[in-house]
Amino acid sequence: MTATFPELRGRVVLVTGAASGIGAGIAEAFRDQGATVVGADLSFEGTDAASGKVHLDVSDRASVDRAFAAVEESFGAVEVAVNAAGTSTMAYAIDTTEAEWDRNLDVNAKGSLFVAQRAARAMQASGTAGRIILIASQAAKNGYRGMSAYVASKHAVLGLTRTLAIELAPDGILVNAICPGIIETPMKHRERHEGAQVRGVTAADIEAEDRSQVPLGRTGTTADVAGVALFLASDLASYLTGQGLNVTGGMTMH
Ligand SMILES: NC(=O)c1ccc[n+]([C@@H]2O[C@H](COP(=O)([O-])OP(=O)(O)OC[C@H]3O[C@@H](n4cnc5c(N)ncnc54)[C@H](O)[C@@H]3O)[C@@H](O)[C@H]2O)c1
Repeated sequence: MTATFPELRGRVVLVTGAASGIGAGIAEAFRDQGATVVGADLSFEGTDAASGKVHLDVSDRASVDRAFAAVEESFGAVEVAVNAAGTSTMAYAIDTTEAEWDRNLDVNAKGSLFVAQRAARAMQASGTAGRIILIASQAAKNGYRGMSAYVASKHAVLGLTRTLAIELAPDGILVNAICPGIIETPMKHRERHEGAQVRGVTAADIEAEDRSQVPLGRTGTTADVAGVALFLASDLASYLTGQGLNVTGGMTMH
């Protein structure tokens, strides 16, 4: 990452989903800019914000409260909140179980609500004109075979982003979503294998299909997404709110 954003130095940044994939890439990118970053995830033990890691389950409001409180105690108000925690399940819509539906909606949609609510309340209370960045997906804008619960949950995230942006604009709090395309992460790897079973093809077939759908001719990296998160937190993005920015190599254009 060569671009530098001096205004991010020392900013208090909370990144959920930071133990893996896109969240890990975003946390690293903010650290590289000199921000004070706390990563939060299911698999991080303890609530020691000072060490840069806190445990949280985004689908549990009390857990989200505890994670924010731990960061506030160590560093003060969160100035940039990035919600990259997420999950997915693969099943055709007509086969989707209630448990699969609930898991996607609980983690992706409700988790985004809980994180954004807690971040916004603290920003309002401390008079912080902060930034809230939700990781949606191009699945917030299109349907995808075998992913109905996930697609529904990501449409919810984008609707939430747009509504929060309007409601928080008077406080100077900017709320945007990133809509990644096909990004090489442990989740994408698992989806190819599970999707192969659902569709009766191989994971390699899906990988080739993935690449063929991207105009830029390659799938994305976590750094591709992290750069846009830095931009959204930076002074360059001060007139941007309520957007769902596609980071898809041209695969989604609306
Ligand atoms: N990889 C892609 O192609 C892609 C594309 C579009 C959107 N996304 C979205 O980006 C986000 C990150 O995905 P990724 O590909 O890096 O996945 P990943 O599985 O590599 O990482 C997700 C992280 O979220 C954590 N997590 C899951 N449930 C949680 C919970 N309830 N509370 C706290 N943490 C939880 C996991 O432990 C994991 O560390 C997700 O919202 C995903 O939907 C990914």
